[in-house]
Amino acid sequence: TKSRAKPQITVRMASPRGFCAGVERAIKTVEETLSIYGAPVYVRHEIVHNAHVVARLSAMGAVFVESIDEAPDDRPIVFSAHGAPQSAHAAAEARNLVKIDATCPLVLKVHTQAKRHVAAGRQVLLIGHANHPEVVGTMGQADDGEILLVQTIEEANTIAVKDERALAYATQTTLSVDDTAGIIAALKKRFPDIAGPAKEDICYATSNRQKAVKTAAPGADLFIVIGSPTSSNSVRLVETAKAAGARDAILVEDADQFDWNILEGVSTIGMSAGASAPEHLVEAFLTALANRRTLDIKTIETAKENVVFNTPLRLAS
Ligand code: F3S
Repeated sequence: TKSRAKPQITVRMASPRGFCAGVERAIKTVEETLSIYGAPVYVRHEIVHNAHVVARLSAMGAVFVESIDEAPDDRPIVFSAHGAPQSAHAAAEARNLVKIDATCPLVLKVHTQAKRHVAAGRQVLLIGHANHPEVVGTMGQADDGEILLVQTIEEANTIAVKDERALAYATQTTLSVDDTAGIIAALKKRFPDIAGPAKEDICYATSNRQKAVKTAAPGADLFIVIGSPTSSNSVRLVETAKAAGARDAILVEDADQFDWNILEGVSTIGMSAGASAPEHLVEAFLTALANRRTLDIKTIETAKENVVFNTPLRLAS
């Protein structure tokens, strides 16, 4: 019998996608801590927001906890890439725990700037999403009331401040570039003296991934972002794809979670992956797709990245 040809599908691969330098560093930090101290190694919060990464490190001996209280005295504790409030650092220090900080250097930069503004007497308006661990960490760099959260243009227009001539703003690193620009514009209009970073605090990886998605998305029948639902930057990529003109966009944890029926009638898809999603999940998805379709893969590259951050653990030589 003659085998029926598989229908063709065009796949626009957005590049850059997937792991950023802060995620690479955070994962490597847990691996190095395990190899230096042996298992178990405790990790405050998911080291990065990806279920596969967390499962792999758990199998190697990492134990993920939400609070320092859950960690024993005699094992090291790694702080996740998202950053932590001063109170969590103080809790670990009070117990003399071996504390290893995998907070992304680009998040630490936001912490430093926020603390500097507060020390200079400025109240900080932090643009971000409530309850995201990065926001909890950044707000926890100063006393209550010194850093206020702003989530929307509406909140920018209504938030009550102590002194409108003594204000600064900062942002979460993984926000939508376009939504954030609108909120910053509203703040600047209402508070002309507000201080802020030269460029917003959205990191290079977040903006590069959004730009690639924006370029790859227009006209795609479906845009697939590989990532976990807890990953803020991944969810933003789904929104970016829709806003840029993909007919539909979805977040997919991995190929096993994907309902292949939705490819019915789909001839062009776009693909990206969040900053915490390993590339092997993208490859596994493409392999599974190739079992069902003849692939015509096009790479849409809008930037090259060469950022690398050293881990905090340097073995004495
Ligand atoms: Fe850092 Fe940006 Fe990645 S803040 S952890 S480089 S998404």
